[in-house]
Amino acid sequence: MSLNDPLAGGNPSYNNPNDLEAFWMPFTANRQFKQKPRMLVRAEGMHYTSHDGRRILDGTAGLWCVNAGHARPKIVEAVQQQVRELDYAPAFQMGHPKVFALANQVAALAPEGLDHVFFTNSGSEAVDSALKIAIAYHNVQGEAGRTRLIGRERGYHGVGFGGISVGGIVANRRFFGPLINGVDHLPHTHNLEHNAFSHGLPAWGGHLADELERLVTLHDASTIAAVIVEPVAGSTGVLLPPVGYLQRLREICDKHGILLIFDEVITGFGRLGSSFGAEHFGVTPDIITCAKGLTSGVVPMGGVIVNKKIYDAFMHGPENVIELFHGYTYSGHPLAAAAGLATLDVYAEEGLFARAAALAPYWEEAVNSLKGLPHVIDLRSIGLIAGIELEPIAGKPTARAFEAFLRSYDAGLLIRTTGDIIALSPPLVIEKGQIDEMFGTLATVLKTLP
Ligand SMILES: Cc1ncc(COP(=O)(O)O)c(C=O)c1O
Repeated sequence: MSLNDPLAGGNPSYNNPNDLEAFWMPFTANRQFKQKPRMLVRAEGMHYTSHDGRRILDGTAGLWCVNAGHARPKIVEAVQQQVRELDYAPAFQMGHPKVFALANQVAALAPEGLDHVFFTNSGSEAVDSALKIAIAYHNVQGEAGRTRLIGRERGYHGVGFGGISVGGIVANRRFFGPLINGVDHLPHTHNLEHNAFSHGLPAWGGHLADELERLVTLHDASTIAAVIVEPVAGSTGVLLPPVGYLQRLREICDKHGILLIFDEVITGFGRLGSSFGAEHFGVTPDIITCAKGLTSGVVPMGGVIVNKKIYDAFMHGPENVIELFHGYTYSGHPLAAAAGLATLDVYAEEGLFARAAALAPYWEEAVNSLKGLPHVIDLRSIGLIAGIELEPIAGKPTARAFEAFLRSYDAGLLIRTTGDIIALSPPLVIEKGQIDEMFGTLATVLKTLP
């Protein structure tokens, strides 16, 4: 397969690789890809350009991250300027101004009371950092027995050992040994019998939060550090929280002194039409993990936002002693901090979170226009996210949705699939005409699927 790219320019040896073997691609069917590659060589606004020169409408904001749209000049220039000015500063025992400014801005966007930010380089690192902070918090509070972590079936919290341990997607767990000790899981909330084709949040399932009481009874609250959930479970295929569910988790955590962590790697930074899912659902956790939209995907960055109670608990002892023995060489990297500041400016200047909220009803209507098409067994939408669940081909789970992915790409639309669910999450700058185009293409693809 020749990857002749007339558009790419520059060094042809980068843009026209003639051997795809060495790169072990993440979460990818390597052999399938390498036989028929799908290379992206450029991006601008709502579109990618493929190596064969086609414009591809980005229905997934890259991987749920490019919330501001591609190649936004303000962000590009901020990163260019930063690399000239200060390429790197040690993250430990040293600082640089932009990372403090970014922490202030992120704290200002977070729900009231969540006012300190620990930076990481990805969502996975944010999750593992948050879990460690939760356990260490109880330790410094004199409750060293509180080490147990509670996740949820079908949860996705990245791929670190902490994240896959509290996560609940079997394929991400089963190859990797016993994982970390002392983890339990709440049941997931997906139920097509009760909730298929719901509008808004599913009416059925709020009671599933009470399973946390059962786990408290089983393990005793004095052993439990934290509960972690995604406010909307994204990677498993867009599962919306049932009415009252998140509120009930908050109540039970409060009753038993358990920290509540919202993993907002997807739901943060406008995806639901608000700064964070916490704001959208009116439930304030103790810790928020974020990444992706924080820099609109331009430079990798994640963060753990904690409340004052947690931060202050560590600020004891001799002042010259490190309070938290945790961090990464690239925590708060200058390029990421510059990208983050410029991204938050773009969000604010263009009112992109409010724009997403205003577009959400139009989006929902477009999602629901797929009702009745072949194989569609559920449609779910919230903010600018959609989940389109397909009936699996008997004996061949995931095959139908993967075929939809391939056919959509050939038709000029990038979608994402997980199992037999199509997940959509476009940049927040999408226009109504582009929403029509997306669902028009998808409808055509669905009609032709095996
Ligand atoms: C909720 C959630 N947590 C964590 C992660 C992991 O983020 P990363 O891939 O940046 O490590 C993701 C990625 O999709 C996610 O959706």
